[in-house]
Amino acid sequence: MSPPLILATGVTKRYHDRVVVDGIDFEVRAGECFGMLGPNGAGKTTTLRMLTGLTPKDAGQLRLFDRFTDPAAPEVHRRLGVVSQEDNLDDDLSVAENIVIYGRYFGLSDPLIRTRLEELLEFAQLVERRHHPVRILSGGMKRRLVIARALVAAPELLILDEPTTGLDPQARHLIWQRLAALKANGTTLFLTTHYMEEAARLCDRLMIIDAGRILAMGQPHALIQEHLEPEVVEIRPLVPPLDREAFAHLPGRMEQSGDTLYCHSQDASEVMQHLRGRRDLVCLSRPAGLEDLFLKLTGRELRD
Ligand SMILES: Nc1ncnc2c1ncn2[C@@H]1O[C@H](COP(=O)(O)OP(=O)(O)OP(=O)(O)O)[C@@H](O)[C@H]1O
Ligand SMILES: [Mg+2]
Repeated sequence: MSPPLILATGVTKRYHDRVVVDGIDFEVRAGECFGMLGPNGAGKTTTLRMLTGLTPKDAGQLRLFDRFTDPAAPEVHRRLGVVSQEDNLDDDLSVAENIVIYGRYFGLSDPLIRTRLEELLEFAQLVERRHHPVRILSGGMKRRLVIARALVAAPELLILDEPTTGLDPQARHLIWQRLAALKANGTTLFLTTHYMEEAARLCDRLMIIDAGRILAMGQPHALIQEHLEPEVVEIRPLVPPLDREAFAHLPGRMEQSGDTLYCHSQDASEVMQHLRGRRDLVCLSRPAGLEDLFLKLTGRELRD
């Protein structure tokens, strides 16, 4: 097996004596899409910033591309594309200028930048927008441009912090297609997301972190199998409130969120049998998914 592109061992960050990344170990393997999930404030952006040299770590080791321990090294920069959580485009410049200037920053030749520019405008579906100033673009266009810009130096590894947050379903699906195409062409991806569907679709492996610690790591379906019953029945009274005690006899592990009860079970049809004829309830059975796993591991309390 080829060596990992990122090897993190005991990586730690403190802000004012508060540990926000708490000695985490993980690797990102060549060619995979690796995801990092976690509630607001879990330490995801801080972890990515340490990997990209924007924030110094307080302890632990990093090894990038099997050679470099300093993420700020110029060799690392050239091989790494970064899509940050905030769009940091130059608002007064045009779409094309944003890409060109980024290409120059990486020291690419003008003819190469011109070729890449055409490819990237096509990739991001921004050909018709090339002369428009960034400030008049929609959120989805800006996000596509940030991703395109990060690809100007054809990085081996692309790190994306919430690539699709705030986008409509069409824009999100387009970005998923583009990321899948990049992966198919051999680019390694490391992304954070709050969209479980995004993680399930794109990620070969993922880790769930909370309060700076890794709670689980592995293939999405394997993690679901390992931590959860295979099926869930959601039970909601037509007229709240929910009387939880009335469902104590159901064959499953119960979780409550507001007026909805989640019955996690080996066999949803058995649970549904018990609820037959209950016209006062809305009941839905479905397979367990990443969101159930996320909530089981990180709890249902609001963060931040
Ligand atoms: N520069 C800073 N100074 C002090 N505290 C910081 C700084 N940057 C981040 N933090 C704190 O570190 C913790 C982790 O923040 P981080 O941005 O890594 O979370 P996150 O997992 O990316 O969250 P989100 O999902 O909301 O983007 C938070 O409690 C945050 O307030
Ligand atoms: Mg963040």
